[in-house]
Amino acid sequence: MESDLKDYAIKVEETFHIMEEEKLKTETVFSSIAEGLFTVDNNWIITSFNPAAEKITGIKASYAVGKPCHEIIHGELCKKHECALSKSKKTGRVMLNIEGKIRDSMGHWLPVIISTAPLRNPQNKITGGVETFRDVSELERVNHELVRLNNIKTDFLSMVSHELKTPLTIVKGYSELLVHGKFGELLPHQKEIVSMIRNKVDKLNFLINDLLDVSQLEFGKFKINKQLFSLTKLLTNKKEEFKIIAEKKNLKLDFNSCPEEIVINGDQERISQVLSNLISNAIKFTNPGGKINVSLENGSNFININVVDTGIGMKHEKIENIFDKFYQIDTSNTRQYSGIGLGLAISKDIIEMHGGKINVKSEPGCGSTFSVILPYKTIN
Ligand SMILES: Nc1ncnc2c1ncn2[C@@H]1O[C@H](COP(=O)(O)OP(=O)(O)OP(=O)(O)O)[C@@H](O)[C@H]1O
Ligand SMILES: [Mg+2]
Repeated sequence: MESDLKDYAIKVEETFHIMEEEKLKTETVFSSIAEGLFTVDNNWIITSFNPAAEKITGIKASYAVGKPCHEIIHGELCKKHECALSKSKKTGRVMLNIEGKIRDSMGHWLPVIISTAPLRNPQNKITGGVETFRDVSELERVNHELVRLNNIKTDFLSMVSHELKTPLTIVKGYSELLVHGKFGELLPHQKEIVSMIRNKVDKLNFLINDLLDVSQLEFGKFKINKQLFSLTKLLTNKKEEFKIIAEKKNLKLDFNSCPEEIVINGDQERISQVLSNLISNAIKFTNPGGKINVSLENGSNFININVVDTGIGMKHEKIENIFDKFYQIDTSNTRQYSGIGLGLAISKDIIEMHGGKINVKSEPGCGSTFSVILPYKTIN
């Protein structure tokens, strides 16, 4: 009997220790977490308010505890039981990362990310609720600032590109007149120099058009004009366009197309722009002696254009970034490749605006495959 009592006393003491330890743990978590935390009972009276909640709101725990939650924190939303905490208490569910607002000591509304959960007694009955909140006002301010700066950058790009276009058109016009002898016949070496000027102007024009496209994409002003056109004919034109460029670099450029003519509903000029970028990339990133194959295949609902090269390839971890604006794998000062890293970003948007997508497979040193998949529609 005496030993039973002793055992019982030991057990009670142990349980007491465990409870003390658990209480201490809870108190440490409560006072040390960076997120604001408060609890309410079933009458919506605040029963605890942690130091982080005091810091974020500027409201003292001694003032908040014992007051209704809506008076201190959420205002009307809470009074009407439409806040996340009410929903958690009503449904018994945990609610995570909900955007909301809380009031600080000055009556200002702070943007916060809220998580809530019901509190239960050992009989599993809901006895109240707990809410944690993270102040995101600094994040929101930085976000607004980023949007503002991004708009300035886009405005600037668009303005500069427009301003550059007019003088370039004039330079191109005059260089063409000069090459064609409109101001008197040129000597062969003079003709060569003026042709070079004209080619450089063309390159500048491409670059400016890309900058304009990007600013229009950012402003949501980029439009595509869909019409039925022959993709087969477009590819034949591309073959002519790139044949000499590939030959000059000693690259074998092959085109394969399925026997029947493929007609799709799309913006011919924009699809042509995508193909030009993929083929010129393949040429740019393949060393002399390499091969490039462009193929057109039709499936039942989709058509597939593959641009395959035996070029320098890309590391796997780089591939996910190549569709970002201004991203280029080689950014060294000694880089030998021209361009500003806009071609793929624009191409991806154009293809997605057509309801398609671009896939990439690549291995460093073994080459790359870019596959454009487009919805298919024939005339017949
Ligand atoms: N076929 C390819 N082989 C290897 N790397 C490629 C290939 N195509 C694209 N890349 C990589 O992806 C980057 C982005 O391509 P993107 O076409 O957007 O830009 P760019 O060709 O460098 O410049 P721009 O297209 O503006 O003239 C390239 O700089 C290159 O690092
Ligand atoms: Mg490119």
